[in-house]
Amino acid sequence: MTYNDIRTLFLDYFNKHNHKIVPSASLIPNDPTLLFTVAGMVPWKKMFLGEETPLAPRIADVQKCIRAGGKHNDLEEVGTDGRHHTFFEMLGNWSFGDYFKEGALEMSWDLLTNVIGIDPARLVVTAHESDDEAAALWKKIAGKDAIRLGKDNWWSAGDTGPCGPCTEIFYDFGENVPGGLPGTPDEDGGRYVEIWNNVFMQYNRDANGNLTSLPNKNVDTGAGLERWAAMLQGKVDNYDTDLFVNLKRAVSDLTGVRETPDNVTSFKVITDHLRAVGFAVADGVIPSNTDRGYVIRRILRRAMRHGQLLGHNGALLSKLYPALVREMGDAYPELATNEKHVVEVITNEENAFADMLQNGMKLLDNEIPKVNNGVLPGTVAFKLFDTYGFPLDLTQMILRDKNISVDVAEFERAMAEQKERSRANTKGTKVLWESQTELPATVDTTKYAPDNKMQSKVLAILRGSEFVNSANSGDEVEIALDKTNFYGTQGGQVGDMGELKSGDMVIMTVTEAARANNIVLHRGVLKEKVSVGDNVSTIVDVNNRTQTTRAHTATHLLQAALRQVLNTDVEQRGSKVSPDSVRFDFSFGRAMTDEEKAAVEKLVNDWIAADMPVTHEEMSIDDAKKRGAMALFGEKYGDVVRVITAGNVSCELCGGTHVNHTGEILRAKINKEKSISSGIRRITMSVGALA
Ligand code: ALA
Repeated sequence: MTYNDIRTLFLDYFNKHNHKIVPSASLIPNDPTLLFTVAGMVPWKKMFLGEETPLAPRIADVQKCIRAGGKHNDLEEVGTDGRHHTFFEMLGNWSFGDYFKEGALEMSWDLLTNVIGIDPARLVVTAHESDDEAAALWKKIAGKDAIRLGKDNWWSAGDTGPCGPCTEIFYDFGENVPGGLPGTPDEDGGRYVEIWNNVFMQYNRDANGNLTSLPNKNVDTGAGLERWAAMLQGKVDNYDTDLFVNLKRAVSDLTGVRETPDNVTSFKVITDHLRAVGFAVADGVIPSNTDRGYVIRRILRRAMRHGQLLGHNGALLSKLYPALVREMGDAYPELATNEKHVVEVITNEENAFADMLQNGMKLLDNEIPKVNNGVLPGTVAFKLFDTYGFPLDLTQMILRDKNISVDVAEFERAMAEQKERSRANTKGTKVLWESQTELPATVDTTKYAPDNKMQSKVLAILRGSEFVNSANSGDEVEIALDKTNFYGTQGGQVGDMGELKSGDMVIMTVTEAARANNIVLHRGVLKEKVSVGDNVSTIVDVNNRTQTTRAHTATHLLQAALRQVLNTDVEQRGSKVSPDSVRFDFSFGRAMTDEEKAAVEKLVNDWIAADMPVTHEEMSIDDAKKRGAMALFGEKYGDVVRVITAGNVSCELCGGTHVNHTGEILRAKINKEKSISSGIRRITMSVGALA
């Protein structure tokens, strides 16, 4: 039975048993306690808690999951054995106050032994030490004595929320595989692998650890599709099943390297990470330095390191993505629908890291022979992090094979010191810059250029509170250039990120382009020495800019929609347009109703779907007023202003970056509407694939 067939088999079985079959929810959960969807039950949490009405008393689905951060984290295990993944698919069936323990266990057993035909002798079951009922049921249904376990048979998604005792079914891969029964010291050997977990969701755990009973007795089950594939295809290793064999072939084709026992770890890591990164970006995650964006960036960088171990430098996952679409696109149409976006995002991310990986490895190769007592100094790990973009876990992964660890405490101290320096430095720099009246205003293009690159000259360098002629690697600086394509923070739009380069060498990663009057300040920590008069190329982080640009035009549409749905008195009172969200404050006297919010969101999305042209024009303020352009209350404008017009719905004065057609925004989603002070409301919204 192929990997793809197992999905169908599972869903057919539960469909026959009156379950509503639903598609997988997004990997990005609507749940602030989790970075990713870690289990099939995540979308149903509110239904277990009784806060939402269940879609149906019985549901089944196959859910995309990522376990690579927080309480559920298998990242370090990937590649070390044959059964761990960061991305995996969870087969699951649920009862919301419908069947309970007996019904659930009967169906699990029936599907495994009667429908699929697994020899009952190869199955082992466990039950929580408190759950005599589950143990008695196993005796009755399967004639099995359950192994009784403690915390391993208690399940929850996060530290708080719905939870309960569980019972797990293990498959015995046979005596040729080392490993002991669950609950014994060598249980992780690999002979007995958990293939299905039935959780009896009965309790809610609060922040103090107290349990209260849920309104209903529910069932939550989860079975790893990858493990079922191994079991049903007679393979001990998930990565030897049909899907992974095909993905590994794509890795071989790309790298020209065959899989051998020596490099198999790299094949496993790359194919696993391809799925995690590919699916996450298709669901709207953008690699970044925070939260889930950073988890994806770290996974991508680890994959590139394994590419390097196979002798392959440069773009990797972006080139393998079409193979993923081929293998899994039928079950997950979003992979193909978003292919262009995903390949673009991953390519940009890989290109940005490729040189840093090579240069960082040179540094590390130099440092390894100097290591004493098997511990790499934290300052070296920090330099790798800060200058070469090596996440700490990447450095640790590289060193693990050599039995070298990292002085993490020292790494963290170096990190804290840098944050402190940066806080002290950025204070008051605006005033210092404004005193530099002889500096010409730098240009920043507000037009989107896909090859965002420009040749410029360094005009001034501010380090701490002094202007210097040159500054060195490690210095935290702000740099003014004779011209730049970086958008400097202004008008609510957060400034660009990117790089200043000299030839192929990165001089500085720009963490934010700030602004003092008309001077754009490229802020960051130098990786190389730089002097006034040097030529540099300015490379804007395109993914980041694209997303901010979408967000800015979407903000204009949002304002227009609010004025249509609520009334024309609605006025903007402030905004923050950043790549991951829009914050829009406006004057309005009461909370919006759900219908109004839905109507506003629909209007914005209708306008996006209509793919209206967006024009950017410069004109005198008087002409702009004649056009009826909206201006911001209390804002000062110059004589010549920029007018942004979207179709026939929005016309605003604005200096920010905007798309050329509304369709480029892809989608908008209102996440929240709340009061921030009397008469002022705030909407937060996401756009693009994130929405
Ligand atoms: N939610 C349970 C698990 O993930 C079924 O194991």
